[in-house]
Amino acid sequence: MNSKAEKAVINGLLWLSLLTAMVIASDPDLLQDFCVADVSKGAVKVNGFVCKDPKKVKPSDFLFKGLRKPGLTNNTFSGKVTSGNVQSFPGLNTLGISMNRVDLAPGGINPPHTHPRATEIVYLMKGTILAAFIGTDNVFYSQKMKKGDVFVIPRGLVHFQQNIGSSNAVAITAFNSQLPGAQVLPLTLFGSSPAIPEEVLAKAFQISKKEVKEISSKFTPS
Ligand code: GLV
Ligand code: MN
Repeated sequence: MNSKAEKAVINGLLWLSLLTAMVIASDPDLLQDFCVADVSKGAVKVNGFVCKDPKKVKPSDFLFKGLRKPGLTNNTFSGKVTSGNVQSFPGLNTLGISMNRVDLAPGGINPPHTHPRATEIVYLMKGTILAAFIGTDNVFYSQKMKKGDVFVIPRGLVHFQQNIGSSNAVAITAFNSQLPGAQVLPLTLFGSSPAIPEEVLAKAFQISKKEVKEISSKFTPS
């Protein structure tokens, strides 16, 4: 092969790997009608969950009642996210979608967090909230949402919701992943286990180690 042909082959391979990376950037496609997850203890772990024996699958495997009840908001953030992902709703396995319920008391927040594996869409069922995300260029995008409004959060970007009304707010959030994952920044940074070295956090946030300790104490289980 001459060097021109070699270059063309290398170029082709580079494009192919780029395209493959683009194609597998979300949950993979189905190979069957469904694959209700076997989440029993000791079940084999793969990239996802193995399927329950289809003979044992029941209509009720496709129903999730976990979002019926309001989440308790008597906590530090005055808010609660109830997850309807493959872990709580095994019928979602391999379907590439999931849904949460977000309850916020007045003033309550769903703190800044990211979902590494999904874009999120927020539908406000009740109340008034501020929904926001921050781009990778640090531009802050926020919108006041009223009942019935929909807001979208691009995949992987840091975002939050805050109840800015005087009554409880309820939102339903949906994702293009069966398990979007969530990294809640205050907990990720100040409540990891083992802890991030204090000097790293002190330098990153330009604060003293004492202040790091103080913040961490709020997020580490006692
Ligand atoms: C809201 O941001 C959620 O993750 O449910
Ligand atoms: Mn979210």
